[in-house]
Amino acid sequence: MGKTRVLVVGGTGYMGKRIVRACLDQGHLTYVLQRPAQEIGLDIDKLQMLLAFKEQGARLVEGSFSDHQSLVNAVKQVEVVICTMSGVHFRSHNILMQLKLVEAIKEAENVKRFLPSEFGMDPALMGHALEPGKVTFDEKMTVRKAVEESKVPFTYVSANCFAGYFAGNLSQLGTLLPPKDKVGIYGDGNEKVIFVDEDDVATYTVKTIDDPRTLNKTLYLRPQENILTQRQLIEKWEKLLGRTLEKFHISAQDFLASMKGVDYAAQVGMGHFYHIFYDGCLANSEIGEEGEEASQLYPEVQYTNMDTYLKRYI
Ligand SMILES: NC(=O)c1ccc[n+]([C@@H]2O[C@H](COP(=O)([O-])OP(=O)(O)OC[C@H]3O[C@@H](n4cnc5c(N)ncnc54)[C@H](OP(=O)(O)O)[C@@H]3O)[C@@H](O)[C@H]2O)c1
Repeated sequence: MGKTRVLVVGGTGYMGKRIVRACLDQGHLTYVLQRPAQEIGLDIDKLQMLLAFKEQGARLVEGSFSDHQSLVNAVKQVEVVICTMSGVHFRSHNILMQLKLVEAIKEAENVKRFLPSEFGMDPALMGHALEPGKVTFDEKMTVRKAVEESKVPFTYVSANCFAGYFAGNLSQLGTLLPPKDKVGIYGDGNEKVIFVDEDDVATYTVKTIDDPRTLNKTLYLRPQENILTQRQLIEKWEKLLGRTLEKFHISAQDFLASMKGVDYAAQVGMGHFYHIFYDGCLANSEIGEEGEEASQLYPEVQYTNMDTYLKRYI
């Protein structure tokens, strides 16, 4: 059990709350950025979550992205900063705000590891991505550049597909629940995709923070059992359901055509879907010298496979 002082920025978010829990579970001294009263406003869920973190042993540190000194003071208290700033367009999207955090970390001079908000496809491999979805990767690369120029030690976590967004719905757009009758298949449905339970993303992420093997590297989450084609994922659901679904195929051409006319946030998401399901971009590259694979580094983590994950939807 480590005893590293870790600050989680964005701790009440979808990923952030899992990172806070993993920090506490792994025995770290866990600090969570609490934004000032005027920024929390009347968001009672956010406040209650922060108070619950405190009850579970976390320390709340007040700070705001509008107050540089408050960020410096917050990061001065810790050795590691994990940021889970929002980055999903249809929800909230503020990846570039992290440049302010990098400035604060640089000034504070005490941070031994910074993990910026990544947790998706490796942006370094997505320079060719379709517009407008490319914005996500470009912004994450801008943050990487600032991190590397500031010489702050880092780890990037490339988490691939969060199961809640991509597995529970059998990768159907516009829904979070699995279809019970008909399912759309992208192309032939045979590109390899990587699905990861968000709680496992958090567990692996926190494992890296004091691990010299992940210093200045990218951690790729590729748990072997969870490298599946869309067809294989659908088969697992059909097995649980006890019947087969009607399938319809969506050609790459039709998929691209359907992007026109949807709003900007949907186009961003659909662009990512395109690269995942038609290009097979998640599993078609080797991990080089600059990367490590999570389930190999941490074989003790009992990750959730998608048979187990999908049971919650029955
Ligand atoms: N691989 C995948 O399938 C996948 C899916 C979803 C997301 N992601 C990635 O995961 C990361 C986190 O996304 P998320 O969905 O967890 O984010 P989120 O829940 O939408 O937001 C996370 C946090 O961002 C902070 N935030 C938002 N706007 C802010 C502002 N104006 N000022 C200060 N803080 C602000 C808030 O922190 P407070 O707690 O301080 O309020 C919020 O809780 C992103 O990089 C995203 O791209 C990956």
